[in-house]
Amino acid sequence: MIKLKIAELLSSDQFLQEVEVNGWVRAFRSNRFIAVNDGSTINNLQCVIDFENTKEETLKRINIGAAIKVVGTLKESVGSQQSVEVEVKSIEILGDANPEEVKLTILSPKRHSLEKLREQAHLRIRTNTFGAVMRVRSKLSFAVHSYFQKNNFHYVNTPIITGSDAEGAGEMFKVTSFDLKNPPKNEDGSIDYKKDFFGKETNLTVSGQLEAETYALGLGQVYTFGPTFRAENSNTSRHLAEFWMIEPEVAFCDLDGNMDLAEDFIKYVVKYVLEHCKDDLEFLDKRHEEEEKSKPQVERSEMSLLKKLEFVTENNFKRVSYTEAIDILKNSKPNKKKKFQYPIEDWGTDLQSEHERFLVEKHFKCPVILFDYPANIKAFYMRLNEDGKTVRAMDILFPGIGEIVGGSQREERLDVLKEKMKALDIDEEELWWYLDTRKFGTCVHSGFGLGFERLVLFVTGMTNIRDVIPFPRTPQNAEF
Ligand code: 4AD
Ligand code: MG
Repeated sequence: MIKLKIAELLSSDQFLQEVEVNGWVRAFRSNRFIAVNDGSTINNLQCVIDFENTKEETLKRINIGAAIKVVGTLKESVGSQQSVEVEVKSIEILGDANPEEVKLTILSPKRHSLEKLREQAHLRIRTNTFGAVMRVRSKLSFAVHSYFQKNNFHYVNTPIITGSDAEGAGEMFKVTSFDLKNPPKNEDGSIDYKKDFFGKETNLTVSGQLEAETYALGLGQVYTFGPTFRAENSNTSRHLAEFWMIEPEVAFCDLDGNMDLAEDFIKYVVKYVLEHCKDDLEFLDKRHEEEEKSKPQVERSEMSLLKKLEFVTENNFKRVSYTEAIDILKNSKPNKKKKFQYPIEDWGTDLQSEHERFLVEKHFKCPVILFDYPANIKAFYMRLNEDGKTVRAMDILFPGIGEIVGGSQREERLDVLKEKMKALDIDEEELWWYLDTRKFGTCVHSGFGLGFERLVLFVTGMTNIRDVIPFPRTPQNAEF
């Protein structure tokens, strides 16, 4: 007897072999055809039972959602959509699912909204959509490691609890062991963090970059891939309070090298899933097509999901300086009203997402890498250009997503870095270890951060970031 996953059985030609399958009932028709899914593929396996020789009691328990074990003969299928089916010899109900209770959940066989599915995040993985999304997510993570390992990068695990604010944006979740109702206080009434677990204020990391930099200046090329946390109160379809970030950091690499790396990396991982997740992507492609049909004509995307993915792997990303982008936007007519909702202010302000989307979706019609941003809207560690006004920053903007990557060449000159920190009121003592890297064998180096969920959004064609991570963390929501 062979015990295989359904994904393997469906492409097997070992007909007349006895097989064992464990999975969950997705449908049961005519007291005869059970559609079983075991999570290995979007496709169900049809198991045909001989109801005359099956106990009434067992038949009654073959309900949607139940876990079953089937032993039977693998046959070439005539009627069903699949090439194989299993003629059941014995069936065992491993875990019942009461139909009356199932009816009250998203397991009931009707179309549930994504909002409804989010309320039952622990069960939504049993649906086709979430099965497909999460398998693609898993394969994408594998592709991330595969790319960097093939290219001689070392995987480094940076701390989750940190004493510094890597982005200097102050959007951190505090970590404390104090009983917050009664923390030790200083004489002036402020909380005495010296008495806290770590002897200082600590928080959940917003980025592993600063620690990764120290490792790049020893191991040469490194990458992180871990959870990061931001307490920004952005209740949008692109923001999570807990998200996974991929952060490569490379010594002896400037901004051009950094852009090359980011583009090559994204193309590799997208190509990888195109090759390894065909069935799931075809399913998501159809789903995407239906979603598009329900939108007004002007908002529909011109390409199917699969075409979009192929397009990204086959075409160069457009590289444009921030200054050029501002000129383009100032001379653009985004819609009939000929206006952006947020007008383009003078040079020096950050772009709004409608500007980013215009550049990517309407103007260039391809992924765009914007570089050389004004220093005053970017983080302290970015390398100052000769003009004294801009920094060697880059953001990669993607259709339907907006910013997917943020990165830069780092300020490797100790004196310039110290000056920038001073201007931003960043305590040198807090970052003494970071400054050490600029004292001992400093060198040109660069890196970037890619928000993993935004990549999964792009690849799966889903539209809300809450639907591409198993248990989303957003403002007012940490139910599971
Ligand atoms: O642009 P960000 O803030 O850059 C950094 O954190 C740098 N330290 C990275 C580096 O150079 N090593 O964030 C990087 C990316 C963004 O482009 C976006 O894709 C994602 O992380 N991101 C988020 N994704 C989901 N939810 C949020 N709240 C996110 N904030 C950033
Ligand atoms: Mg950014």
